Amino acid sequence: METTYNLIVKPWCTHFFLGLFAMLALLSLSADAETQYHQFVIQAKPVKRLCRTHNTITVNGQFPGPTLEVRNGDSLVIRVVNSARYNISLHWHGIRQLRNPWADGPSYVTQCPIQPGGTYTYRFTIINQEGTLWWHAHTDWLRATVYGALIIRPQLGSPYPFSTPKREYTILLGEWFDRNPMDVLKQAQFTGAAPNVSDAFTINGQPGDLYRCSSQETERFAIESGETVLLRIISSALNQELYFAIANHKMTVVGVDAAYTKPFTTNVVMIGPAQTTNVLLTADQPPAHYYMAAHAYNTANAPFDNTTTTAILEYKSAPCKKGQSSRPVFPQLPGFNDTATATAFTAGIRSPSRVNVPTDIDENLFFTAGLGLNNCTRPNSPRCQGPNGTRFTASMNNVSFVLPRTNSIMQAYYQGVPGVFTTDFPPVPPVQFDYTGNVNRGLWQPIPGTKLYKLKYGSRVQIVFQDTSIVTTEDHPMHLHGYHFYVVGSGFGNFNPRQDPANFNLVDPPKRNTIGTNPGGWVAIRFVADNPGVWLLHCHIDAHLSTGLAMALLVENGVGESQSVIPPPPDLPAC
Ligand code: C2O
Repeated sequence: METTYNLIVKPWCTHFFLGLFAMLALLSLSADAETQYHQFVIQAKPVKRLCRTHNTITVNGQFPGPTLEVRNGDSLVIRVVNSARYNISLHWHGIRQLRNPWADGPSYVTQCPIQPGGTYTYRFTIINQEGTLWWHAHTDWLRATVYGALIIRPQLGSPYPFSTPKREYTILLGEWFDRNPMDVLKQAQFTGAAPNVSDAFTINGQPGDLYRCSSQETERFAIESGETVLLRIISSALNQELYFAIANHKMTVVGVDAAYTKPFTTNVVMIGPAQTTNVLLTADQPPAHYYMAAHAYNTANAPFDNTTTTAILEYKSAPCKKGQSSRPVFPQLPGFNDTATATAFTAGIRSPSRVNVPTDIDENLFFTAGLGLNNCTRPNSPRCQGPNGTRFTASMNNVSFVLPRTNSIMQAYYQGVPGVFTTDFPPVPPVQFDYTGNVNRGLWQPIPGTKLYKLKYGSRVQIVFQDTSIVTTEDHPMHLHGYHFYVVGSGFGNFNPRQDPANFNLVDPPKRNTIGTNPGGWVAIRFVADNPGVWLLHCHIDAHLSTGLAMALLVENGVGESQSVIPPPPDLPAC
């Protein structure tokens, strides 16, 4: 990667020592942009949780998987060897992958999955991103256990925009199923009913003190009185938004989704699947042990996992009690359906200063996001166990996304193979209706298809995601691959194109890669389509993704090589 440094511009004669210093800094900086090589072996490994051992799919036998720690500007070369019995591919969630969809990872979208026994090497560079991201499997429900943190620190010599914390901890929130998650998915796909909910939430893979057979391994974070630490909170949860809090401690949010934010202080964090939140925590309380805890923020009218995961924040100077230590203080978590707190938290997240939001919009898109029910010819038969003998489905703009099986969309596009996808995804819903009202049953059944929406390189795009009340209203965490975007507005009820844009924040909206629709509401994003390729756009609740709550954008090449997709690597898997 080419990098320019403007450090040594002062005349040498007058600033000799400064110049010398800058030279040294330059040397260390150039040495800094490094390439890391890793091998990720996908393999089953016995993992015991909740008193039972499962043959869990892992990376290198680790659960959660290995943490990648890089600096902005570094490159990663990750050789993935599939020694498991499932097809798999890995996604580097939030990495922009400029002109390089081949390294993005979603199975059948940008690549064919790596088959058992196969290998594929992901090669990519981190360009102008700092903060916390993560990686995860992007095939069926394998990401339930195949995930890990991806930490991007500033280049050597460039500081954080806050005083350097004494310590950093990663907090990976997850969902544990006391079954093979692939079987949970398989069962739901067979019956058409909603998939089973998880049996535990986890912090760094551990359920914590409130679950059976778990308290011996509860995750602990040591902290020194008075110090400030950076917590990198990542939601690897499969299907559930979460509330997270620490007893007696406030947190200061300083970043989300690998972008810095204007610091704001909060007692609680709401985090949707795939989002990340960096917070500063100051150990300003009496030395003791304090619980960190997370439980569901549930917005759907549906069963959910109502358990609570915990970890312990331990002051090193906490007085040792004789015998058993007294139980740590427990934090107050909002109610499961406390939408007011969730909305206030999300609305508090802003960019640090004025940002460059597109104002003249070339593509004004309006996408509904919601569930549906397919009618059955034989209601209540074994394959029609959904509500009233139907099968669950999900869609955007009435299209339920179907993955191709014989090729990936990106490969078909690049090679000009016809018949794999079409580019007629509708820019607005084919039928307008009261999206969050009482929806006519005739509109509950979407049409299956592999439909993309084509964008010209460089077009300025606005997308409004509108939740529907079909089956249930719900917070849908919408994620766009290959991009980050500005979240310019959100609201409840139906989006009003005449009134709502007047309230958009075009000054300091947050930059994110995943944002939830309000339950029974909408959220608006803007970005410039400057990354050519096929980019999946989907709800990051896997129960919804696997029933079709997805679509893909096809961003065309611009002018010349620098605006075009790079050629695919020779080891790109075939289907
Ligand atoms: Cu976390 Cu399709 O991605």
